[in-house]
Amino acid sequence: MRMPGIILLAVFGFVLVMLTIMTYYLRTVLKQYEKDDEAGINVEKKKEEIASSRNFVYTALVLVSVSMAGTLYIYVKGTAWESHLMEWLNIVVRLMHITFGIAWIGASFYFVFLENALNRTKDVRDELAGNLWAVHGGGFYYLEKYKVAPKTIPKHLHWFKYEAYFTWISGFCMLFVVYYFNASALLIDKNILDITAWQGIGIGVGSFVVAWIIYDLLCKSPLIKKPVWFTLIGFAVLIGFTYFYTRVFSPRAAYIHFGSMIGSIMVANVFFVIIPAQKAMVNAAKKGLPLNPQLGKNALNRSLHNNYFTLPVLFVMISNHFPTTFGYEQPWLMLAIISLGTAGVKHYLNLREKGQLSVWVLPVSVVILLAGAFISAPPKDPGACNSKIEFSEVNAIIQERCVSCHSSKPTDDVYKAPPNGVMYDTPDDIMRKKDLIMQRVVITKTMPQNNKTNITQKERDIIRCWIEQGASVK
Ligand code: HEC
Repeated sequence: MRMPGIILLAVFGFVLVMLTIMTYYLRTVLKQYEKDDEAGINVEKKKEEIASSRNFVYTALVLVSVSMAGTLYIYVKGTAWESHLMEWLNIVVRLMHITFGIAWIGASFYFVFLENALNRTKDVRDELAGNLWAVHGGGFYYLEKYKVAPKTIPKHLHWFKYEAYFTWISGFCMLFVVYYFNASALLIDKNILDITAWQGIGIGVGSFVVAWIIYDLLCKSPLIKKPVWFTLIGFAVLIGFTYFYTRVFSPRAAYIHFGSMIGSIMVANVFFVIIPAQKAMVNAAKKGLPLNPQLGKNALNRSLHNNYFTLPVLFVMISNHFPTTFGYEQPWLMLAIISLGTAGVKHYLNLREKGQLSVWVLPVSVVILLAGAFISAPPKDPGACNSKIEFSEVNAIIQERCVSCHSSKPTDDVYKAPPNGVMYDTPDDIMRKKDLIMQRVVITKTMPQNNKTNITQKERDIIRCWIEQGASVK
C-alpha cells in the first residue's frame, strides 16, 4: 500500500507543477492579446478562448489539490501522522477562511458605509448619485457613484465576488476538516441524538439547501415589501433552524451549523442574485437598452440582508472559544439573543453612517446582549457543601472521567494527544487548572466532552465543593 501511495502523490505533485506553469503561460499570452487589443487589432474571440482555458486550468488545480489531500489522508489514516495532517489542514484552511472572510466582509462593510455616507447634495453632477472624499494610507481618494450606469461601461471593471466564493469554499472545507471527519467527537453528541456520521453530514449539508430555498421564497414573496414582518418572520425561521440544530448536534456543532447556514445564504445571495443582476445591468448598459430597476433593487435588498447577517455570523465563528455560550442550558436561546443583539448593533451603525442618530437602538441591543450574560451567569447559591471534600475523592473522579483524554498518553478512541495540552496526570496538574475545571465541568458542563465518560451531577458538585473549599491537594 505504501509504494503506490507515494507514486500516486508524486504523479499528483507533477501534474500540479505542470498546471501552475500553464497558468503563467496563459497569463503571458493574455497580456500579449491585451497589447494587440490596445493597438486596435480585434482579439475578443481569442481573449475569450484564453479566459475559458484559464478557468479550466484553475478548476483542475483545485481538483488535483483536493485529490492530493485525499490520497494523503488515506495514506496516513490510522498512523501517528493522521492527527498531524489534520492539524496542518486545519491551519491552512482556517487561515484561508479568515483571510478571504476579512476581504469579503471588509469590502461589504466598506460599500455599505460608502452608500450610507455619500454626499448626495453638494456639487453632484446630474448623472451621479453622490460622491465621497476620503483620505487613507497617506493618499486622497475621490469616489463617485452613478445613479444608473456610466454612458460607456469601462473596459476594466472590478467585480467583487471571489472573496465571497472562496470564503464559502474554505469554510465548507473547514466544516469537513473539523467536524465531519471527526463526527463522533465534535458533531454528534449521543446524549442528544444517536446518529451516524453520514446522517449527521447529510442533515448538516441538506439543511443549508433547505434554508436557502425558504429564505429565497420569502424574498420573492410579497412579504419583502413589509420590512418589519419580513424581519420578524425571517428571524423566527432562523431561530427554528437553531432549535433544530441543537436537537440533532452537539451544542458546539449546532452553533457552527447556524453560522454556516447563514454564511451559505449570504454567498448564495451573491452567486444567485447579486452578481447575475449586475451582469444583466452591465449587458443592458453595453447594448444601450433600458435597465430593469427591479434587478438593482433586489440586489440591494440581498446585500442589505447580508450586511445584517455579518455580526451574528462573526460571533458564531468565534463561539467555540466561549463554552458559556454554547454550554448554556438552552443553547438556541443564547444564540437567538446574541444574534438579535449583534444585528441590532449593526443596525445602529448603519443608521449612524447615514447621519441618523437613533436614541434607543444601541441601548436596547446592549441590554439584549447583557441579558445573555445575565442568564448564563453561575447560580448565586449553587447548593451547600456540607462536608470537607478530600482530594482523593476528586482525584478518583478525574481519573475515571477525564484522563482517558487528558493525559500524556490518552486511551480515548479519538484523541491520541491531550486536547489543548491539558493533562491531569499529577495532583499539581489538577490544582493548577482548577479555574478552567470549574468553568468547563461545573458551570457550563461542557466537559467531559459530550459527557462521553458519563460524569454525574453529584460528581460535578463534589468537584465544585472541593474548589470552593480552596482546592487543596493535601
Ligand atoms: C472525550 C475526551 C475528553 C474527556 C473525557 C474530557 N475532555 Fe476536556 N477537552 C477535550 C477536548 C477535545 C478539549 C478541547 C476542545 C474544547 O475546549 O472544547 C477539552 C478541553 C478541556 C478544557 C479547556 C482547556 C483550555 O485550554 O481551554 C478543560 C478545562 C477540560 N477539557 C477539562 C476536562 C475535565 C475536568 C474533564 C473530566 C471531568 C474532561 N475535560 C474530560 C476532551 C475531553
